Amino acid sequence: MQLTPVLSAHWDEPDSFTLAGYRRHHGYEALRAALARHPDELIQLIKDSGLRGRGGAGFPTGMKWGFIPQGDGKPHYLVVNADESEPGTCKDIPLMMANPHVLVEGVVIASFAIRSSHAFIYIRGEAVHVIRRVQAAVDEAYRGGLLGTDILGSGFNLDVTVHAGAGAYICGEETALLDSLEGMRGQPRLRPPFPAVAGLYACPTVVNNVESIASVPAIVRNGADWFKAMGTEKSAGFTLYSLSGHVTRPGQYEAPLGVTLRELLEMAGGVRENHELKFWTPGGSSTPILTAEHLDVPLDYEGVGAAGSMLGTKALQIFDETTCVVRAVLRWTEFYKHESCGKCTPCREGTYWLVQILDRLERGEGSEDDLATLLDLCDNILGRAFCALGDGAASPIMSSIQYFRDEYVAHLTAGGCPFDPIASTVFAGAHA
Ligand SMILES: Cc1cc2nc3c(=O)[nH]c(=O)nc-3n(C[C@H](O)[C@H](O)[C@H](O)COP(=O)(O)O)c2cc1C
Ligand code: SF4
Repeated sequence: MQLTPVLSAHWDEPDSFTLAGYRRHHGYEALRAALARHPDELIQLIKDSGLRGRGGAGFPTGMKWGFIPQGDGKPHYLVVNADESEPGTCKDIPLMMANPHVLVEGVVIASFAIRSSHAFIYIRGEAVHVIRRVQAAVDEAYRGGLLGTDILGSGFNLDVTVHAGAGAYICGEETALLDSLEGMRGQPRLRPPFPAVAGLYACPTVVNNVESIASVPAIVRNGADWFKAMGTEKSAGFTLYSLSGHVTRPGQYEAPLGVTLRELLEMAGGVRENHELKFWTPGGSSTPILTAEHLDVPLDYEGVGAAGSMLGTKALQIFDETTCVVRAVLRWTEFYKHESCGKCTPCREGTYWLVQILDRLERGEGSEDDLATLLDLCDNILGRAFCALGDGAASPIMSSIQYFRDEYVAHLTAGGCPFDPIASTVFAGAHA
């Protein structure tokens, strides 16, 4: 399997983030072509391409656009989800830093398709450098006649607002994001109604991930068949896989869906020298962990699902044998406890108790009964919480007990953690 750099093709050029740099590689050519077509044709094109949302759930993008009612007399909105906060997930921020114009071009095409004249890009508040870069690209696009009124002489008008969030993981959940954008505290909304019917300001709204929207210009330029020729039957196209942790060359690897971790690791120089793979996440910390026995699982929605996990954000966090799985899971659980919005009891109370028990176990002070209590708690969160954050908190715990129960027990037998935490640090690896 080969890499298929499309989104990341020119990231190494010093001016890749400027309009001039983007134009050198067919930038905004897709927009001109799109504006000459009927909006419904564009929705059909994205449906035919098989593009699925890159924000985690893999929902078909064209179908989502098609849900927006037409002729309803209401404003329609496009909202780009650039909140990227899931532990391990680091693809949208590099993409926006290296090539913000591909996102802006995708925003104009998507807005034209769903008949929206106002789009929002909601960026995680801590990422100030990203906010500045995207805002600069939007300003440049306005100056170039690519945003604003009568875009490229087509008669189509679009305004884009770059909005900085306040830094809450839950604001990446699309309905919490909409509440936050409206100026309220970010908490998930009850569905239905879905955003396509009543989203931002109670109007039909499409919420899409950065990478989903940034993939649109290349599909418009090259066609649905070109896109479908990459990837697998139900998971079409190329995507950004983010490798991090105990890997020789961490970073973004843009490859067809269905590539395996074994193949990606070969391209990334393998697990750090003199160490071996112990466990990994296929799609960020909220997806059940996998182990070395899953190295050949095709990394598409179906393949990872069949292996008992989820493709999620394709954030491949690699952990070698020096890592204490109990400690890693405790860290993630502390994150979910901190980020729980508090709206529903299973998650608000449950994540608190999960941390208490995991912390006790990690210090070797618990008992084997605690493992049963942990699983019972997870069982009462999974599928019972108001939004997927609760499920995400339970996933790493349940899967780690499934694969590494002995390691939990070893903490109790040893009366403490049997691992040297320094050995798992990156600087320890450098001097090994
Ligand atoms: C707790 C939580 C956090 C999320 N964070 C993000 C995020 O940062 N970025 C994102 O695109 N989707 C995130 N999602 C998924 C969104 O709710 C939504 O599915 C996505 O933005 C839809 O875009 P897509 O169809 O293009 O994937 C999150 C979901 C949950 C439950
Ligand atoms: S699951 Fe957690 S984050 Fe989601 S609504 Fe409930 S308390 Fe809030």
